[in-house]
Amino acid sequence: MSVTAIVGAQWGDEGKGRVVDYLAQSADMVIRFQGGDNAGHTVVNHFGTFKLHLVPSGIFNPNTVNLIGTGTVVNPDSLLEEISAVEAAGVSTENLFISNRAQMVMPYHRMLDGLQESARAEKKIGTTKRGIGPAYADKGARRGVRLGDLLHPDWLKMRLRPALENANREITHFGGDALSFDDLFDRCMAWRDALAHRIVDAVPLVRDAYRGGKAILLEGQLGVMRDLDWGIYPYVTSSNPTASFAPSGAGLPPQAIDRVFGVVKAYSTAVGAGPFPTELFDASGEFLREKGNEYGATTGRPRRCGWFDGVAIGFAAYLNGFTGLAITKLDVLDGLSELKLCTHYRLPDGTLIDYVPDTSILETVEPVYETWQGWDEPTTNVRHWDDLPENAKKYLKRIEELAGVPLAFVSVGAEREAMIVL
Ligand code: GDP
Ligand code: IMO
Ligand code: MG
Repeated sequence: MSVTAIVGAQWGDEGKGRVVDYLAQSADMVIRFQGGDNAGHTVVNHFGTFKLHLVPSGIFNPNTVNLIGTGTVVNPDSLLEEISAVEAAGVSTENLFISNRAQMVMPYHRMLDGLQESARAEKKIGTTKRGIGPAYADKGARRGVRLGDLLHPDWLKMRLRPALENANREITHFGGDALSFDDLFDRCMAWRDALAHRIVDAVPLVRDAYRGGKAILLEGQLGVMRDLDWGIYPYVTSSNPTASFAPSGAGLPPQAIDRVFGVVKAYSTAVGAGPFPTELFDASGEFLREKGNEYGATTGRPRRCGWFDGVAIGFAAYLNGFTGLAITKLDVLDGLSELKLCTHYRLPDGTLIDYVPDTSILETVEPVYETWQGWDEPTTNVRHWDDLPENAKKYLKRIEELAGVPLAFVSVGAEREAMIVL
């Protein structure tokens, strides 16, 4: 039994939900440790197709406890909507809990996200407008309201009043309408009625599972390239998707982590603004977008597509301490005659680098590619490594080499079963 972090190795949307759903078949607990409903984690299994935003991707296994952890930011309306959608498909959510220390995303956070993005004029971040940045900003400013506060109305009033006053100052500055305290407090009481039975103290829950040797999965949101510290700042999210943050956001000591699986799409995609060195603007990019159905799971925006970026993966592998790679969407590459892999970045003065530099420098780099032969044979029905086309194996082996981390899984379809285990 062990603790395994599953995190995104690129710009998000690598297939984390798909991998967690697969592994959760034998997990006792799944914890989302950061982020909020900016996540769109797609799971395809015998219950149907789901785009999970806050609910951990282990929800489909009734024996798995699913916790929305302390490091997250939770929009109660969006969570309630998601619970209804999952239950409508016949999935029980009795096994879903929320840490009382998780932050709430309030209606004013969403409003502010939109207003702040509009004010950014040409230099937009391209956020999901889910209020994530403003909610984490309030957390940092020690103004946040937490899920557990719903259970203590007097305390909640004391916390909410100054938080709302502060938000209203900014909303009215941007020309928006101030929110009423009484209306918001009433909404909080409705959220309390709907969610109180799921709000728990994560310490005994997680500590006892850990001490009891249970199999715990820590589900990351987004990927390292949009990490608040290590990503392409300021075109990042407002939390840390890297595995180092996983134990903290989940409520585990750092040495609890036994394995870190980096989820790696077999090519690159990004939604939102910011540098993306291997981005394609030609027919190959269009091929990847259409064949890979690369449209955002949360906002529906077309994803920017590009060749595999081995520099970003090496950077992700180092910072996250990957112990294994879960490669996804290999099947999308079937039928391409040639594939490119970026091995280095070239700086304007000609110097080659093998790490991701700070954003202002990253904007100026050129990717250095090597070219690999593609394959025609479809891989979707392959379930064993030996049955993969030779060129697919060579391509995957090169990814393994660039990451310096062994392959653990290769996914060849969106469905739970379409997985090669190494
Ligand atoms: P996440 O945010 O990391 O969980 O990833 P998303 O769900 O946003 O995006 C991954 C997309 O790829 C989803 O539409 C998945 O259903 C799909 N997907 C995942 N793995 C595979 C795969 O191996 N092959 C194909 N064709 N689709 C996949
Ligand atoms: P999953 O978990 C892809 C991007 C946004 C924007 C930046 C900041 O499904 O991989 P935010 O709303 O977080 O303030 O936006 O991060 N972004 C994502 N891109 N997948 C996601 O989640 C994302 N969550 C946020 O497009 O560039
Ligand atoms: Mg996603």
